[in-house]
Formats: sequence, structure tokens, C-alpha cells
Amino acid sequence: MTALLSVRGIEKSFDRNRVLTGIDLDIAAGEVVALLGENGAGKSTFVNILSGALGRDAGRVVFAGAETVFSTTREAIDAGIIHIHQELSLIGSLSVMENLFIGDYRTGRSGIIDRKALAAASRPLLERVGAGHIDPRRTAGELSTAEQQLVEIAKALSRNARLLILDEPTASLTPHEAAALFAVVRELKSRGVAVIFISHRLEEVFQIADRVVVLRDGGVVSDRPVAATSREAIIADMTGRAFALGAMPPAIVPEGAPLRLAAEAIGDGAGIGPISFELRAGEILGVFGLVGAGRTELLEMLCGKRAIKSGAIRLASGAAPASPTAAWRSGLALLPEGRKTNGILPNLSVEENIVVARRQAGGGLVARGSERALADRLWRTLGIVAAGPGQPIRSLSGGNQQKALFARCLAADPSILLLDEPTHGVDVRTKGDIYRTVRDLAGEGLAVVFVSSELPEILALASTVMVLAHGRRTLYAPRAGLGENDVLSAAFVEAA
Ligand SMILES: Nc1ncnc2c1ncn2[C@@H]1O[C@H](COP(=O)(O)OP(=O)(O)OP(=O)(O)O)[C@@H](O)[C@H]1O
Ligand SMILES: [Mg+2]
Repeated sequence: MTALLSVRGIEKSFDRNRVLTGIDLDIAAGEVVALLGENGAGKSTFVNILSGALGRDAGRVVFAGAETVFSTTREAIDAGIIHIHQELSLIGSLSVMENLFIGDYRTGRSGIIDRKALAAASRPLLERVGAGHIDPRRTAGELSTAEQQLVEIAKALSRNARLLILDEPTASLTPHEAAALFAVVRELKSRGVAVIFISHRLEEVFQIADRVVVLRDGGVVSDRPVAATSREAIIADMTGRAFALGAMPPAIVPEGAPLRLAAEAIGDGAGIGPISFELRAGEILGVFGLVGAGRTELLEMLCGKRAIKSGAIRLASGAAPASPTAAWRSGLALLPEGRKTNGILPNLSVEENIVVARRQAGGGLVARGSERALADRLWRTLGIVAAGPGQPIRSLSGGNQQKALFARCLAADPSILLLDEPTHGVDVRTKGDIYRTVRDLAGEGLAVVFVSSELPEILALASTVMVLAHGRRTLYAPRAGLGENDVLSAAFVEAA
């Protein structure tokens, strides 16, 4: 077997932080390799080097028989290495079709962009990734995270890929959308395209990969055919020890707990609602639904980001917030979905990112020393991996950025916590940390609304489950007594 890609001794440091300590890897044409490891293990750094986005300190890369040093991503793309980044990178103000054909606009005789031709050329690309429902003329920024992801993949396929690198492509896809993506991957594989696939969802690895490579602390710790490994072996390789999430006792709403929030038939006048529910101190309301079911819109209504056109919200702490800033002041903290577009302050340090919400919530000045102590404490509780609280947040690994945003919510000392897909892109160990933190906080009386598209997570964590479909509530019941099928069938209810 001759390798399409052959990598030897790749090393990379950022200042004195040694991130890659000598990576060796061979990939054959038509092979799908899963690249796994905990948050901060060096996965994104490694693939950024392969695709010319980052330089390396040492090591060799042979691609398609030629020794290569890509100094720009353009050179890598021309050689057939296509990299879909962990953070979405569509241009939000352009249309879908403009994003698909950036730098390759079709122009008519007059030299003006031929929008009809562009739309027509876009449709088959979108259909190939199961996104035929997306109108190519829509503005990319208006699409959901999942839809943007699919457009990015469609864009990659419009080029002549020989090696496709997918850095956590399924983090924001539903199981249905992920299955469509896997069909695309299988089709590419059958045409000899090699794929590097990064994911924190181990079940996906067994569906799609031929080989599993695990990174730990910047080095390869195992490289095995998928048939010769197991979930347990992979987790042990990633963490350096046998590790289990550990079953949590079922969550129940404490008897007589005070009401924190009541939503009375709220609707946004644009397809979401009417939705009603109550939230008590110590309750964890798990909200499940397919992408587009209205989960994010519901959270936006709760925190004053989206106007409520019918019904009303009553808060124990006062009037319903009219804006996100007012929400922080009334003790509502929101962890939004999609960290790049929502809320990260990329040029500030991790510490600044953590304490910013507390300043907003307090509305006044807080002593610098106490801010530092708070950031330090949350940093340790959540096990954020970085050089220190002063590091710019944009240079943290994706999962660690997510932990820092979670810390920000906690720093505001809220009475109601709204979490939108809080475990996107975090590794198994950190998921456990987040679950335990949420449970502990609920035990102290915090009320939590927890949106997730991972059913096991909803079932493990929630004391009450609400399912949305097509903007309506299709199930609302205590967690105890609910099975997987009850929740799934409520999510797949047909539109009325
Ligand atoms: N530009 C940078 N400057 C400084 N440090 C960086 C930079 N990019 C990455 N790092 C550091 O390199 C380490 C590895 O990060 P990387 O993003 O490769 O991890 P990862 O395995 O992709 O993690 P995740 O699963 O969270 O996405 C982290 O400790 C991160 O803080
Ligand atoms: Mg990464």
C-alpha cells in the first residue's frame, strides 16, 4: 500500500507550550481515519499544519508522492487538501451561492454576476449533502448552525478534493443530518478520497472510520483498525486511564421548590409557540427537538433577545427582561449555541471573557482582585487547559473556549441558567465535568433550562423533559417514567 499522505515527526510549539511533540501518520487513498483526543490534545493544530493554515517547527509531509510545505491554505487547496474548520467560516453577509462560489463567480456576457446561473449551479452541490431544501439565494448568516455546516461541506465538494479534513463536522448536526453527511463521506471514499475525521462522538467513529488514531498531549498514543479497538480502549487511550462517566442518580424536582419562571403560552408571532412551562428552583428542564424545532428561539424569548408577541413570561425576580443585558441583571444567564458567532470576545483574555458577564450583571465596578479569584476558581472547577487565564481566548482549543463561556455564565451568579448545546465539541471527560457542575448547581437551587440534541444527555441530566417540534410543545413530563422512544416520537411528530 502506498500512502497518499505520509507524515513524519511533526512538531509545533506556541511560545514555550509544546503542542505537538512528533506526529507520524500514513493515510491511503480511500481511507477514513478518525483522529481523536481530549480537548487541547493538538488535533486542530495538527490538521491546520496539514492544510497550510499553520507553519510547523519540524517534520516532513509527503502528499501524493511529493514533499510538501504549504505556506498558504490556497496551495493546499490546489493540491487537493480541503479542510473544513472546527469553527464555521462562511461569510454571513453573503448569500449561500456567493459563499459556494467565492472567487469563481459566473458572469454573463456583460461581466455582471449571473445570479440565475449561480443559483442553478448551487442546487446540485447542496443536494449532494442533503441540503437541497436550502435556497441558494438566502443570506448565509440567517441559516442555522447546522445548515451553515452543510453549506461549508458543499463548498468543499465543489473543489477537487483528494484529502478531506473534517474538524468536528457533526457537532451541530442532528443524527439525521450526520447520517446524510456520512453518506457523502462514503461516496467520496469510494472515489478514492482520503478523509481525516475529528469528532468527540465515539459512536460515529464506529460508523464511519476504517482506522482510529488517538492523540494525547501532542503525540500519537494509538493507531488501530476500527475493528481492533473498542469504546473503552479509545477512552483509556485519550485520558491515559480507564474512565467512565458514571451513572448519575435521576434528577427530581424538589417538593415545594419555589417557582422561578413561568412561561404562559409564549409565541414569537413567527412560527414558534404557543409554549407553556414552569421552572422551579433546583429543576433541570431538558429541551429536546430536531434542528429547526424552535429550541434556540425559545431560549432567545426567555432572555429578551427575541420579542414575545403573544403570551407572557413571569419571573420570580421581577418583570420579564426586555433585552439580554436586562436578563443578566435579572439573574438569567445564557450560554448561546455556536461560540464563534455568539459571544466570544476573541481578542480578550480568558479571564476577561469569564468576568465580563459579572460586570454586566452587577452593572458596576467589582474589585479586580476578587474578579481574578473568581476566574481562577471557575478555571480550576472546569479544568480549562491553556497557558493561563491571561491567554487570548481565540488561541484556546475549541472545547476549552466552550468551557470558558460556561464559566462566564456561572461567574454572573445567576438564579436561572439557560444552556444551548453546552457540550458541543467537548470531550468525554469534560462532558462529565459539565454534567456534574449542572447537577451540583441545581442541588444548590439554581434553575436550569438545558437544550440538547443528544438524547442520552437529556435523559441523564433532566428532571423534566420538554420536546419541541415545528415550534410547538409536543411533550412535557417528568423525566422519571419517560423512555427514549417517548422522547423521539414526540420530536418526530408531523407538522399540523
Ligand atoms: N494560536 C495559538 N496560540 C497559542 N496556543 C495555541 C494556539 N493554537 C492552539 N494553541 C494551544 O494548543 C493546544 C492544542 O490545541 P488544539 O486546538 O490543537 O486542540 P484540539 O485537540 O483541537 O482540542 P478540541 O477538542 O478542544 O478542539 C491548546 O493547549 C491550545 O491552547
Ligand atoms: Mg480542535
